[in-house]
Amino acid sequence: MTDSAVTSVEQMRLIFTHLTGLVRTAGLYQANHPQTRRAKEVLYRALATFLEPHGKLTYRFLGDLLIANDRILPRESLVYRQFLDVCQTERGIGTVTFQPGLEEREIDGVFDAFTGGIGPDPAGWLARRRLAHVALGSPVEPQRESGEVVARRAYYGSIEALREIEASIRNREPLTMEQFTTLRTLTSTLLEQILATPGLVLRLASIKSYDEYTLYHSVNVAVISIGLGALLGLPQDSLREVGMGGMLHDLGKIAVPLEVIRKPDLLDEGEWRAMRRHPVLGADLLSRMPGANRLPMIVAFEHHMRFDGKGYPFVRGDWLQHPVSRLACLADVFDAMTSRRAYKKAIPTEAVCGYLRDEAGKAFDPRLVAVVERMVRTLRAEAPLEASA
Ligand SMILES: [Fe+2]
Ligand SMILES: [Fe+2]
Repeated sequence: MTDSAVTSVEQMRLIFTHLTGLVRTAGLYQANHPQTRRAKEVLYRALATFLEPHGKLTYRFLGDLLIANDRILPRESLVYRQFLDVCQTERGIGTVTFQPGLEEREIDGVFDAFTGGIGPDPAGWLARRRLAHVALGSPVEPQRESGEVVARRAYYGSIEALREIEASIRNREPLTMEQFTTLRTLTSTLLEQILATPGLVLRLASIKSYDEYTLYHSVNVAVISIGLGALLGLPQDSLREVGMGGMLHDLGKIAVPLEVIRKPDLLDEGEWRAMRRHPVLGADLLSRMPGANRLPMIVAFEHHMRFDGKGYPFVRGDWLQHPVSRLACLADVFDAMTSRRAYKKAIPTEAVCGYLRDEAGKAFDPRLVAVVERMVRTLRAEAPLEASA
C-alpha cells in the first residue's frame, strides 16, 4: 500500500470520528450551542480537505461493519458498533456519501439525519432539505445477506486488521489489546460461518494475492487451520485460537525485506538466514503483547518445525511441537503450494495432496495429513477448487 493510500485511510477514520463526535454533542448541548457549532466546523473542514483531492467519500454500515470507500475499517467497526447499530435500526441510515462542493450549511442536514433519522424515503428527505452534495441510503436488510457474504467481509476485514498491526510494528508503536480484539472478533465471525458452511474453507482459501502474498496467506492459513481443527472436532473456543495462530504465524516476516520474500530465484546464504529468523521474530513480537493468549506465539515459533524434529528454528532433541503448530504447518504448506509465487506456479490440489502424502511421517504428522485429505475430499464437491493466482 502506498503512503498516500495510508493517509487517505487515516483521514477517513478521522472524519468518521468527527461525525460520531458531532452526534455525541447532540446529547449534551443544544443544536446552536458553541460546542455543537465547533463540532460541525471540525467535521466540515476535515471533509472539505479530503474531498478536494480524493473526490467522494462514502461510509457504508453493514451490520457491525463500517466500510469507507470500499475499505473496511476494523477498529472503528468495533469501537463504534453501537453507533452503527443506532444508525441502521433507529435512524434509517445505511450509507452516507459526501461529494466535492459540499457546503458548510449542509452539515446541519447531516447533523439532523444522524440525530433525528431520515425515515423510509431517503431521497424525499434529501430533496426537502436541498442537500446537493450529501446522499443518504437505507440500510441493507441483514436477512438478505448470505453466510458467504458475511464470511468474505470478515476475510477482508482480517486483511485490514493485519495490515494495521503490521503498520504499528513498522512505525515502532506498541501493539495494543484493541488491535488483537478486532482480529479475534473477525476470526470468530469466520469461524462461525465455517462451522455453519464447511465448504467455505476452500472457497475462502482460494482468494489469493500475488502482491500482498503474506497478508492473504496469513488469513488463508487461519481459514484452513480452522477447517482442519473443525474436522478434528476441536471445541469452538480452541478453534478461535487456532485461527488466531494462523492469522499471526508469519508476523515475523515483517522484518524480512520484500525483495527476499518475492525473489524469483533461490535465496543466497544471507537472504536465507534472514528468512529463517521470522519464526523467532514473530514469537518475540507476540510475547510482548500483554494479556494475549500464548498459542499464536507458540505457533509463530514452531510452524517451520518438522514432524521428524528437523526444520527451523533449531531446538533441542526432546522438544515437543504443539499439535496446533503441526496443524498450522500443514495449513501453511497447503496454502503456499496452491498459490502462485515469483518462483513457481500454483500447484493443483491433487498434486499438493500427493506431496503431503509423500512427506507424511517425515515433514508432517501423518494423522493430520489424513485430515487434510479428508478435508479436500469432502469439501471439494461443495467448492470446486483450482487455485487462482
Ligand atoms: Fe512462515
Ligand atoms: Fe506461512
